[in-house]
Amino acid sequence: MSDAPIAAGPPLAAALALAAAAWREFRQGRALDRALEWAAAQVMTPHPRALAAAQDVAYSAARHLALLEALIARLAPRPPAPPVAALLALALSQLISRRHPPYAVVDQAVHAAQAVPSTRKAAPFINACLRRYLREAPALHAAVESEETVRHNAPRWWIDRLRSAYPQAWTSILQTQREAPPLVLRVNARRTTTDEYLRRLRLAGIAATRVGAQAVWLHEPRPVADIPGFAAGEVSVQDAGAQLAAPWLQAGAGMRVLDACAAPGGKTAHLAELTEATIDAVERDAARSARISENLARLGLASDRVRVIVGDAAQPAQWHRGPLYDRILLDAPCTASGIVRRHPDIPWLRRPADVAQLATQQARLLDALWPLLAPAGRLLYVVCSLFPEEGVEQAAAFERRWTDARRVPLPGLQAGEGQLLPVPLTAATAWTVDCARPTLHDGFFFALFEKR
Ligand SMILES: C[S@@+](CC[C@H](N)C(=O)[O-])C[C@H]1O[C@@H](n2cnc3c(N)ncnc32)[C@H](O)[C@@H]1O
Repeated sequence: MSDAPIAAGPPLAAALALAAAAWREFRQGRALDRALEWAAAQVMTPHPRALAAAQDVAYSAARHLALLEALIARLAPRPPAPPVAALLALALSQLISRRHPPYAVVDQAVHAAQAVPSTRKAAPFINACLRRYLREAPALHAAVESEETVRHNAPRWWIDRLRSAYPQAWTSILQTQREAPPLVLRVNARRTTTDEYLRRLRLAGIAATRVGAQAVWLHEPRPVADIPGFAAGEVSVQDAGAQLAAPWLQAGAGMRVLDACAAPGGKTAHLAELTEATIDAVERDAARSARISENLARLGLASDRVRVIVGDAAQPAQWHRGPLYDRILLDAPCTASGIVRRHPDIPWLRRPADVAQLATQQARLLDALWPLLAPAGRLLYVVCSLFPEEGVEQAAAFERRWTDARRVPLPGLQAGEGQLLPVPLTAATAWTVDCARPTLHDGFFFALFEKR
């Protein structure tokens, strides 16, 4: 019999079974969104709401993964088999989040266990663990929350690196990254203004705050289908920090711009909204590159002005023809340590060696692209990372390697300033034109270089 999760009748049991199948894959190294897609594809007759519910269950569990695993270590006399550990973790997470009555969670977890061959025999064990947790929760929490990895929900090495890079801010960074992510939109400047869009939201009774020049934070998350103007291309979903790249590149009409690592095209589309420049959007992953074209089409920006090229940005000889570029945006692959609030699986997927390996890849991309920049042209380097190896140290090393590269201050910031730390939701204020940066954003590093 197949070990795939089956769609049990009641939604929570179905969501738990689906999320547990994904969780097992995730704990073996697969990104949570891909693991959920994989698990959903195994289900023969999915409950219509099971995937969305499973996403919710799995992502909220990832926000306290270390706590869940520490609790399981205390509740189980020996490590349970991975399918059992996965279901137990997700059911415990549901008990902790208190979204459902405890008896319903226990009942549904047992149903989910019975529905899947690999957990069927363990249903009584899961039942016993969850009931014991309910009886002993305060003592169990007190015992495990003394561990720093549990309090900050990150592996030891991850915490140590952040502490060493940010001796003042590391705890607030880690706590901010445990928040549920804010839903932030980018208003398409070709279609409407930010003020006009905010007025429309007010009339629709949707609570929102302006957090950047074109950035609007919707206080309550909602599916894109329910975002006013989304289908018509008036807005896109994009963090306000990511919205800094296009204006900071300062591309004018008639310029040639290269967006070197472009998919899914958030920054390409923003560039096309703000400028009349011609843009080459290069992406190595063919499947992801299709999303650039889809996004441009939704926004009404598909035209000869933007070319989507499938190619390796580190090997320009494969795809570069014609004159040099006036502007280059390198939004390089990175650890993504600045966007953990949106992807809570990241600290658990990365390994310490990934930081140096990605920094080497970023340096290779910088060195391959710099010769494509025209004299007096500008290159903006971006990573959604907090680790200095990918940010401040990468920028300094680049400037040492290329004597014709001059680091220029980012608009509104001091010379050398470029590391943006994630802003907690409680600190978000209304943005005004005097603000040098958005008032709510994830963690990013930016460095702007000009060719002498
Ligand atoms: C941080 S994401 C880019 C996000 C995008 N700029 C946006 O705003 O929507 C990095 C992208 O670079 C792509 N990539 C990684 N290495 C690459 C390479 N050598 N050449 C081209 N693309 C690459 C990845 O597939 C990924 O889509």
